[in-house]
Amino acid sequence: MISNLQFSFLKTFYQLDVGAPASEYRLSLDKIFDDNFPQKVSGKFVVDFGCGLGGDTKTMAEWGAKLSLGLEIREELVKSNSENIQLSNCAFATTLPNDLVQKADLIISIDAFEHFSHPDQILKIMYDCLRPGGEAYISFGPTWYHPFGGHLFSIFPWAHLIFTEKALIRWRSQFYKDGASKFGEVAGGLNQLSIAQFEDLFNKSGFIVEDLNCKPIRGQRWLQKIVGREFMTSMVLVRLKKP
Ligand SMILES: C[S@@+](CC[C@H](N)C(=O)[O-])C[C@H]1O[C@@H](n2cnc3c(N)ncnc32)[C@H](O)[C@@H]1O
Repeated sequence: MISNLQFSFLKTFYQLDVGAPASEYRLSLDKIFDDNFPQKVSGKFVVDFGCGLGGDTKTMAEWGAKLSLGLEIREELVKSNSENIQLSNCAFATTLPNDLVQKADLIISIDAFEHFSHPDQILKIMYDCLRPGGEAYISFGPTWYHPFGGHLFSIFPWAHLIFTEKALIRWRSQFYKDGASKFGEVAGGLNQLSIAQFEDLFNKSGFIVEDLNCKPIRGQRWLQKIVGREFMTSMVLVRLKKP
């Protein structure tokens, strides 16, 4: 009943522009992590986990990585990335080749952790990629309690927490015909985890958590201090080390 009413409201007042291009604005790796990131990558075997179109993988190859490998579950992206790349130290694959297991010096993962359906399993795969002493640099967000943590379901701040999943999914199904029936089934996935839940997963992963930094929404550091990191964090930066 409540979901039906909410759906009618959403249908009447909100449209989704499915043709709108995704934002092309993305900070470069040295801006996300630190200015010395190019030096950190140089001469190393680096893995870009969940590389998507492979832009960061290519950048790390250009920065002089010994090998920059983009791992991506979507085969069509691996194929097109591989066809388009012309750098001998850059490659793409769906999984880590057996001869490279436990050899990576560094892993990056950008804008992907809030989408992974089983982030604990991803951490295990990352652990197996790295050599002892190797590090994972992870950046992700917005997480679930951010005003726009529902991604396309956040038609206004925190709308994804106000409306029922049923109403929002039904509203989305007017525009997308992929049959998704839960938040986790939409393209790319959405795991709805809080920062506290992520922190718990990192602490239990076997990695040493060297740093976990919740960057506040721009200009809202003071508000983050008052209402807490879950609601006012734009980006979570995590640095993990394999013992
Ligand atoms: C939101 S995109 C981010 C892409 C890229 N890192 C960027 O910043 O533009 C997350 C990517 O992770 C990929 N992905 C999801 N699960 C994966 C897995 N188990 N192994 C490798 N890639 C995965 C998705 O297909 C998607 O391309």
